[in-house]
Amino acid sequence: MDIASRPSEAPENPKIADAAPPPHAPSVIRREDYQPPAWLVPEIALDFALGLDATHVTSKLSVRRNPDGNGSRTMRLNGDQLAPLAVRVDGQAVNDWRLDGPDLLLDLAGEAHEVEIETQLNPAANSQLMGLYASHGMLCTQCEAEGFRRIAFFPDRPDVLSTYRVRMSGDKAAFPILLSNGNCEATGESADGTHWAEWHDPWPKPCYLFALVAGDLVANHDSFTTRSGREVELNIWVRKGDESRTQHAMDSLKRSFRWDEQAFGREYDLDLFNIVAVSDFNMGAMENKGLNVFNTRYVLADPETATDSDYDAIEGVIGHEYFHNWSGNRVTCRDWFQLSLKEGFTVLRDQMFSADMGSPAVKRIEDVRVLRAAQFPEDSGPLAHPIRPDSYQEISNFYTATIYNKGAEVIRMMRTMAGPERFRAGTDLYFDRNDGTAATCEDFVRAIEDGAGLDLKQFRLWYSQSGTPQVTVTTQHSGDTFTLKLTQLVPPTPNHDGGAQPEKQPMPIPLKLALFDRETGTHRGEELLVLDQAEQSFSFAGYASAPVLSINRGFSAPVAIDFERPVEDLVFLAAHDDDAFARYEAMQSLVVRHLIAAVSSNLAEEARTAEREAIVQALRSILLDEALDDLMRGELLILPAEGYLAEQFLVADPSAIHAEREALKAWLGTKLRGDLEALHDRVSAVPYSRDAAARGARKLKTQALTYLAAGAPDEARRRAIAQYCAADNMTDRQGALMVLAGLDGPERGEALADFHGRYAGNALVIDKWFSLQAGSLHPKVLEHAKALAEHPDFTMNNPNRVRALYMALAVNPQAFHAPSGEGYRIIGDLIRRLDPINPQTAARFVPSLGRWRRIEPARAALMRAELERIAAEPSLSKDVLEQVTKSLG
Ligand code: PHE
Ligand code: ZN
Repeated sequence: MDIASRPSEAPENPKIADAAPPPHAPSVIRREDYQPPAWLVPEIALDFALGLDATHVTSKLSVRRNPDGNGSRTMRLNGDQLAPLAVRVDGQAVNDWRLDGPDLLLDLAGEAHEVEIETQLNPAANSQLMGLYASHGMLCTQCEAEGFRRIAFFPDRPDVLSTYRVRMSGDKAAFPILLSNGNCEATGESADGTHWAEWHDPWPKPCYLFALVAGDLVANHDSFTTRSGREVELNIWVRKGDESRTQHAMDSLKRSFRWDEQAFGREYDLDLFNIVAVSDFNMGAMENKGLNVFNTRYVLADPETATDSDYDAIEGVIGHEYFHNWSGNRVTCRDWFQLSLKEGFTVLRDQMFSADMGSPAVKRIEDVRVLRAAQFPEDSGPLAHPIRPDSYQEISNFYTATIYNKGAEVIRMMRTMAGPERFRAGTDLYFDRNDGTAATCEDFVRAIEDGAGLDLKQFRLWYSQSGTPQVTVTTQHSGDTFTLKLTQLVPPTPNHDGGAQPEKQPMPIPLKLALFDRETGTHRGEELLVLDQAEQSFSFAGYASAPVLSINRGFSAPVAIDFERPVEDLVFLAAHDDDAFARYEAMQSLVVRHLIAAVSSNLAEEARTAEREAIVQALRSILLDEALDDLMRGELLILPAEGYLAEQFLVADPSAIHAEREALKAWLGTKLRGDLEALHDRVSAVPYSRDAAARGARKLKTQALTYLAAGAPDEARRRAIAQYCAADNMTDRQGALMVLAGLDGPERGEALADFHGRYAGNALVIDKWFSLQAGSLHPKVLEHAKALAEHPDFTMNNPNRVRALYMALAVNPQAFHAPSGEGYRIIGDLIRRLDPINPQTAARFVPSLGRWRRIEPARAALMRAELERIAAEPSLSKDVLEQVTKSLG
């Protein structure tokens, strides 16, 4: 179970008996309570005697009183299910330590000491995947945020920076490869079949960046020469047999090294960079210094088993973790409230990288889609928090779309206001000033202010206020003057831990806009306005006739725009806007406003038909526009997601939204059938390659099938079977199977069985097999999901597999929101069953149920009841308890 580390041979120590934390009484950690540590640990030496079910750890800490601390003699060494087997101070065994809950407290008399503690861990029993754990016979660690305390007693806080020496020894046959941070300085063998290695990381780091990996691994080896001539050895370590699927990751890594030198002036700072892929991992990847640990899904790819989106995700995550070497590692966080300091900034950096490697327009649209799907609901729900939170109970719950994606948007706005060159001067100053330190968001803002020459006094509200601002636009034209009236409102958000949540104040909102001439379809240049009051007007002279307004171009601010405007203007922008995002947005708005009206049932049949026809016309012109590349065409063809549509209602009816959206899709599939078939024919003739044209073709291939499946299912089935059988790559095969999985007929089962048989043993592809079925449009999706939970390939112990089945279900509106409440029940049961195994992953499923206030009353009651049933569990983890309590509260 999850007792990772309490060794049975721990000495009988009465101090341990009363160490259990009181259940159901989580304490609240507050940003305003920050205190510098009383003791620092400039150096640490760790010794691991490795074993899968018994690893002995000896940690030797050189500690020094912090001159900036409170002067306390007591040193707090955090622990989590650790028992001290021996405690020595300056070489002498001592007995005057005590336990405070899971932590060890030690009184130290002098200014500097050496503290040595021994513990023993059971990695094989660690199902939480935090600390040291076993995965397929290998040992690996995950320490962010608070996992190091499951390995050794230590001040587990990011403002305690140490240089690490790590020695590990273990059976050479079981663990031929021994890795840690930094450089390997010595290795050796013993006669008893064990071997050892010593690693040294010269860069001081907080313990959350510590990592150790031991196992039977093979590497893709390469090298990179930095701009100042340092030759860096690059290795991507995987299990035997997977090495042929690492080339895309390696190429992405080399591109990341080069890009950070060019775009941010950041060079790598060690002679070695290791990446290890593990299949049991809670998150995407982890930026441990010099030893990144990755979920296999963000490393392994070849055309046969990975889709184009998988390739893109790998490039993005490889970049993200590499960029953390500066934004996160060289400059780290003072405390976990500053998490967005490293994550928001690093997401912006990985977004810029991917944009530069591919199509900036398409990348921007995708990023906004993610923000709207994941972050907007967070901001309008019970778990809303500012990008720099004021309090938390369990920090693992704050690795959110708000900290990551909204955090990136906030920094992107600074860049928009400063311009790229001045922004770069700001980030240069930030790295200069804060290198080697544990910094705060305030340090970042100040560096941008000073380096870029911006006044960000009022802008700081973006760090403290949660909620998505709503900007309402009205326009007026008189004489030759066009006037824009803008108002902003930051909606109230819940305040859980009693922290001060003052009334929301207006924030600076940078809005890019252009005014189009209706006749020529052109504009006089883009302008940037900054709306920084509750209400403001802007006038533009010299417009004899009313122009068409294009606003929030490039999604220059993460806000919701409320703008009542004639359909013709949207049709105009969908056809003419030269800003790719704005063009996409016009198309989306056209569909969103139609569906809102249709769902609210205030559309007469005639009006409904007229609006659908306008959408048909707009889509047809997109299908036929020869100036568009296919990747971009694919973006413009995507219908707004049901979750995003639900957000547009104060209280949403998921069935009505689903039905109207499907009906529109069927209408489009019917009316555009000829165009869609021609499109499918054209793109099916494009041979596989990784270039943009071929990727665009593949994207459209499956999109055409999706529309046809709604409007002409028999035709779609025929084409999907053909596409499935002819597929020489996973994008086509998965796309075809997805369409078939949503349709009835014998081919459905045959194709699913073929897919499963073809890829048996490839965990990442079997994950797709689970997801496709749980995410499908098939009316019996819940039945299928229940059967899949009993499938021999299903396991609760692998987070990828759990997500493949249950996350796909939780984001499948017609399944999750089944009127019976069965979808809620399945997710509720999952949370209760998974919590004792892996609380961090279990807690990630709570927000889907937490949205009940925004769902129609019958379902809301069922969702609430499910949350209450979870809350009634006797021993919930802190992770799930916090999310459930806040969702109910
Ligand atoms: N810091 C990691 C990243 O963003 C995410 C992570 C958090 C991984 C916690 C594991 C545990 O790249
Ligand atoms: Zn990150």
